[in-house]
Amino acid sequence: MSIARIGIVTVSDRASRGEYEDRGGPAILAYMQEVVTSPWEPVARVIADEQALIERTLIELVDVERCCLVVTTGGTGPARRDVPPEATEAVCEKMMPGFGELMRKVSLEKVPTAILSRQTAGIRGGALIVNLPGQPKAIGECLDAVFPAIPYCIDLIEGPFLTTNEARIKAFRPKK
Ligand code: MTE
Repeated sequence: MSIARIGIVTVSDRASRGEYEDRGGPAILAYMQEVVTSPWEPVARVIADEQALIERTLIELVDVERCCLVVTTGGTGPARRDVPPEATEAVCEKMMPGFGELMRKVSLEKVPTAILSRQTAGIRGGALIVNLPGQPKAIGECLDAVFPAIPYCIDLIEGPFLTTNEARIKAFRPKK
């Protein structure tokens, strides 16, 4: 079976210009290294907060690079250049609103500004795309909440069978 590919997309004007170090992408990579135990490899990108560029990158990661999961970080807020949720919606055939609902619920227990994130998720072809906020600490907080459902979601879209480090995250698969 082919190795699973996981896309990691940092959406940040300043990180893409090299004005500061990307901390979100490496935090997602570290999270996946800790949690995903079946064979996988990362495909990482650092790009500016431009809707057309984000859409092209998501399409490339899913249709060409064949990622089964793509996680974006940054740009989920209300500012003029915060557009990853719009780009995600534009390239997905189906939205998965439960991801944003649950991530905002758990984030609200940490920060009152969690309601400012418009983070969402959706399905494009054989991939689940999930948006995370830009704060590096939000990455683990959000992924811990939704990750138990991600392997089964990827089963349902006929992707690779992902297994997890159960001491960290127990994947839930309803019994057939
Ligand atoms: N969620 C978690 N778990 N932790 C956080 O620190 N920051 C919030 C929110 N969600 C935050 C969070 C803040 S301050 C904002 S403005 C929004 O996410 C959007 O952030 P973004 O534009 O970097 O995506």
